Amino acid sequence: MPVYVCCLTGTKIGCLEGVCGSCTVVVGKWDLTKNKARYVSVNACLVPLFWLDLCFVLTVEGIGNPEKMHPIQERLSRGHGSQCGYCSPGFVMAMYALLRNNPYPSEKEIKQTLKGNLCRCTGYRPILEAFNTFTSKNVNGCSGCPGQVNGQCCQTNSSSSNKNDFTDIYEKELTKWENFPKYDPTQELIFPPELIKIIASLQNEKVLTLHSKNLTVICPKSLKHVKELLIDSPKSSKIYHVSSGQALRLHFCQSETVEGSSTIWIAYNKCEEMKRLEHSENEILIGAALSLTEVRNALADHSKNEVLNEMIWLQDQYSTPSVRNVATWSGSLLSAHGDFPSLALALNLKIYLYNFDTDESSIIRVDENFFSSGRAVITGNTVITHGVIDLKEIKSIRAAKFEPELHQLFNMVEVQYKDDQNRIALNGFKKHPLLFQDIEYENLENELQKETISKEKLEGLQSLINLAKQEKNLKEENHFETLQLFLPSENKKGKNGSVGRPLAHQYADRHTTGDAKFVGDLRVADLLHMALVLSTEAYAEIIDVDPSEALKLDGVLSYVDVKDIPEKGTNLPGLHPMSCPSDDTTPVFADKEVICIGQTIGAIVAETIEIARKAVKLVRVEYKPLKPIISIDDAIKAKSYYTPEPIVFKLGEDPDKIFKDCAYTVEGDVHLPGQQHCYMEPQSAVVVPEENGEWTIFAATQHASNVQLQSACILGIMKNKISVRVKRIGGGFGGKSGMQCGRARSPALIAANKLKKPISCVMDRKEDMLNTGGRHPAFAHYKLGCDSNGKLLAGEFTAYINGGYSQDVTVWVLGALVCTGDGTFHVPNIKYTGYACKTHTASNTAMRGFGQPQATFIIEYAMDKLARKAGILPEKMREMNIAKEGQTRIDGHVIKHDELQKCWEECKKLSDYKKLRADVEEFNKTSKTRKRGLALTATRFGLLHGKTFEQAFVLVQIYLDGTVAVSIGGTEMGQGLNIKCLQVASQALNLPIEKITMIEANTEKTANAPVTGGSQGADVYGHAIKIACNQLMSKLELLLKKHSDKNWEDIVGIAYNECIPLSAGVHGQFPRGEVGGSDDGPCYHTTGTVCTVVEIDITTGNHWLKSVDIVMDTGDSLNPAIDIGQIEGAFMQMYGHMTMERVVYDEKGNLLTDSFRRYRMPTVENVPEKFRVMLLKNSNSYPGAVYSSKGIGEPPLLLGASTFFAIKDAILSLSTGKVLSNDAFINHIEPPLTQFKLRKACDELIKI
Ligand SMILES: Cc1cc2nc3c(=O)[nH]c(=O)nc-3n(C[C@H](O)[C@H](O)[C@H](O)COP(=O)(O)OP(=O)(O)OC[C@H]3O[C@@H](n4cnc5c(N)ncnc54)[C@H](O)[C@@H]3O)c2cc1C
Ligand code: FES
Ligand code: FES
Repeated sequence: MPVYVCCLTGTKIGCLEGVCGSCTVVVGKWDLTKNKARYVSVNACLVPLFWLDLCFVLTVEGIGNPEKMHPIQERLSRGHGSQCGYCSPGFVMAMYALLRNNPYPSEKEIKQTLKGNLCRCTGYRPILEAFNTFTSKNVNGCSGCPGQVNGQCCQTNSSSSNKNDFTDIYEKELTKWENFPKYDPTQELIFPPELIKIIASLQNEKVLTLHSKNLTVICPKSLKHVKELLIDSPKSSKIYHVSSGQALRLHFCQSETVEGSSTIWIAYNKCEEMKRLEHSENEILIGAALSLTEVRNALADHSKNEVLNEMIWLQDQYSTPSVRNVATWSGSLLSAHGDFPSLALALNLKIYLYNFDTDESSIIRVDENFFSSGRAVITGNTVITHGVIDLKEIKSIRAAKFEPELHQLFNMVEVQYKDDQNRIALNGFKKHPLLFQDIEYENLENELQKETISKEKLEGLQSLINLAKQEKNLKEENHFETLQLFLPSENKKGKNGSVGRPLAHQYADRHTTGDAKFVGDLRVADLLHMALVLSTEAYAEIIDVDPSEALKLDGVLSYVDVKDIPEKGTNLPGLHPMSCPSDDTTPVFADKEVICIGQTIGAIVAETIEIARKAVKLVRVEYKPLKPIISIDDAIKAKSYYTPEPIVFKLGEDPDKIFKDCAYTVEGDVHLPGQQHCYMEPQSAVVVPEENGEWTIFAATQHASNVQLQSACILGIMKNKISVRVKRIGGGFGGKSGMQCGRARSPALIAANKLKKPISCVMDRKEDMLNTGGRHPAFAHYKLGCDSNGKLLAGEFTAYINGGYSQDVTVWVLGALVCTGDGTFHVPNIKYTGYACKTHTASNTAMRGFGQPQATFIIEYAMDKLARKAGILPEKMREMNIAKEGQTRIDGHVIKHDELQKCWEECKKLSDYKKLRADVEEFNKTSKTRKRGLALTATRFGLLHGKTFEQAFVLVQIYLDGTVAVSIGGTEMGQGLNIKCLQVASQALNLPIEKITMIEANTEKTANAPVTGGSQGADVYGHAIKIACNQLMSKLELLLKKHSDKNWEDIVGIAYNECIPLSAGVHGQFPRGEVGGSDDGPCYHTTGTVCTVVEIDITTGNHWLKSVDIVMDTGDSLNPAIDIGQIEGAFMQMYGHMTMERVVYDEKGNLLTDSFRRYRMPTVENVPEKFRVMLLKNSNSYPGAVYSSKGIGEPPLLLGASTFFAIKDAILSLSTGKVLSNDAFINHIEPPLTQFKLRKACDELIKI
């Protein structure tokens, strides 16, 4: 859909396959018979253009702008539901479609609507909270509040009421919902009257025809026109009959081949016969071109008939509502995958066919032969016109669906007939659904085995049966409870300062209105586009690369590779001693050999990105394959490491000597898979050659100055010729730092240098996932021992991480893992050894937590196991072993400015831990199929990270109208760095924040900035800004005193006339020495504790986060809304890692999780039912920190590990003590605890 052609860049592209929802737009269709419009959300990346004929398409720009925002945009923005903002337009539009049809939806409907929209930053809580203000329960709100319940603001009401102890001291409203205007649906845009007129005038038009070079799409209004069309069509054309064309479009976009010959699509989305919908008591007639949503709604309209409830339930399990709004049941049936085919098979659906060659109609049933051979009758010029669901003989229907791993989808539909016969259809086991008739559940497995189904798949059957037996409650509504507690802001000085206030993200309004531009949205004159040629071998010599066929395509301008690097330049910019990281051999282009599937070999430059992507498929690469090293196991065998010696840290005695004195020891192995960053904005850059050999580079990077350095190296030019500009990035999480953010930019730079033209390189999701690495997978051997009371005595750990094909920051990550290997505990005698493995997989890099998530998980895993062996509750054992202020960590540093113990105590109070633990045990005693588990875990994260990372240059400039611009070299990537810096400036200048702005990071203004990462941006930049502001104010305050009758603007004028400086450029270094900090090691620790309760269904493997209570010490928070947003988002990111996310390679090095369809991450459906966060008061902060605040981006991530231990706790409740010493079994439970693994673990435990 050409929103980009119209320069409406608010609609974002995140995956191009219907999964992320960033591209959601709303389509209004006018119904002439009902004289009203119906609105649906659709994915702009999938919906075919013809489908939009005579539709009213609304993009995020169409419903509001920063000056006049739509209530959805306003509430999302002010409710802190937008961090990086890349996903925000999609959320806004999905919600908009819902409100247009249903102005007062229920919480359940909102969740259902948003489940096809991914957000990697927020953890979804603020999005849900903002949108829940529109719910039906809030309609009768007073004039101030969007809605009131029991005389209180709806949001006050939704928060836990039993937290009075805290609410006396703490504030609990990040957003004052009562200040928002009430939503008035009558103010919505009307369907354009001119369009209604056009629709009416074209009513009798027979066909719509669209032409492109190789494709003609014809949309007939009636079947009788099709025949004529077929006669007239050229014989050489390939003809497709499509209902919505969405699936076919996706297929062609993703196909590896380039279609050459001309193709005709006959699309039935306007065909009257195929849009029929008729129901009587016993039958529902569904036209073939009805969407799955239309069919679902037809079933719901008929739902007086309770038999249909399970069918509706199954339809509601559909992954992505916006896809379902377009996808048709006939297209779905013919795909044989998914839900509708099983439904049709179990229902023995009657389908009506028409053959245009013979002009004959026929009827067939979807029966046991349909998918294997019967479907063959629907080829050539035969089409499905409609189907009939016959309800007369049906007694009941049962349905089940689950998606355990890697885009595996299993489902089951059973139809029981009044004559007591049944039909069971199962899908997911073979390429098409299988039918079993007159069969008991107990016999299904035997019958299925006859179909030679793999053992692993067969395990899915029991979950389906268990789920099918459960009654589905369509109305079930879990009320979502949230609470955010923080201290009221006490302005440290002056009336205008804004430090401590929960202000919205600087760009929030622009994000939610689509006004915010990301790199991929930039358009400069003569811009060309680039797509990458990626290796398809993990390890091979390159024999030959032949781009000649690609170069023949119209619109293709050039192929570039390593040969195009200028003579003075380099293919290895990471070898520059000042590069970050230095000593890194990541090449821009593969040179003579490839070392990973997905490595960049070359690139095609073309007039459009579509042409470039088409052309790369035509580049032929000849390889001589070599034997690759893929896994950590392979690397250990081959001794393939990045450092000749392992990294070793020790504390106390040799643990081997101590273990013999331990009352209990545990020893074993644990694996932690890799994790993808899944930033929503893919890697992207626009490079622009300027006059005199100068360059402007717009880069999606966390490290602009490193981009400048590396770009200069690549071209062999001086650094001062390059200006790097970064306005914002759509999420980074470490994935846009180091070498990785060069993956799009460096090839573009080389091509732009060759062609002397500006070039944009915006990766698609698959390119990005193949080409870039993520969190390092880890494998560890552990041994941990304690005395008879549970006090830790000794630990010995050996960890291996998979660095992939190049070093990047792998050795640093390993260093961080090893030197934080004791986690939050005091292990008096500990030895930690770490190896960085070199393999032929994507080069892994920095990711939120930087080695500490692996370190935390490994020791927590051993601790949990040891506690169970010692017969002590894991949380008790954790509590007694927390390292205290003044104790020494494994890296030799003494713990300072640390509040972990206080967080622990307060968390127990906030969560009402004792009661929760008792409730969990009580629940488990009485509940048979559902079990609950609890985990109380903590995080301790040392900050800051050392000398060169702790310095920054900033500029504060006061203009003659009294407004101020602050410039920093750090990147705003959703973490709220800009708003925090603005708050510091406002505080230090005693100016209202509205007078201060930050426009972008630009290397011309602020040179040599450190990487934005490590949770220390606000510390480093805030500190320098404070100094700069103080410098300016030292003179201006004298004038303010002298001219006390003058306002700020006048004072600025006087200062200018007296030649007093109005600009300050300051190089600030974090003042660790000045206030007693050591030369190295952390100045302070950000700490926190979480109490997580989960519920699992032991029969299906499902789990739910029942409650999450977090207490976090963020010092005197600069901005509680931003800090709480970071806490919740980080928690959910680690939760994903623990329960569903993993990076999987096959033995040849193919990445099996190469798209959002194959890589699962948390959605709105995974948000805890109760999500409460409290920012601790009375922080023991480092005196040198900015207004006593603490860094926050990464520390709370480690708390997400609690979800794993809570699930494990629930699973082990089945053991009733039997298996606590069964090491083999407990070892078995490893992340991610997917639905499959969870159920299997429960099954095994029950059998023991
Ligand atoms: C992101 C995403 C998520 C999805 N999630 C789910 C899910 O949760 N559950 C699920 O079940 N499915 C899911 N699907 C699959 C999706 O439902 C199917 O791809 C879709 O239903 C196909 O319908 P269509 O209208 O797009 O087919 P079309 O593109 O119109 O057609 C598909 C094929 O059927 C043929 N065809 C279509 N109509 C006719 C006709 N009337 N007569 C003869 N031949 C015809 C076409 O020639 C073509 O070969 C998902 C798909 C995506 C992209
Ligand atoms: S759903 Fe369209 S870009 Fe992701
Ligand atoms: S704010 Fe949702 S992806 Fe960043």
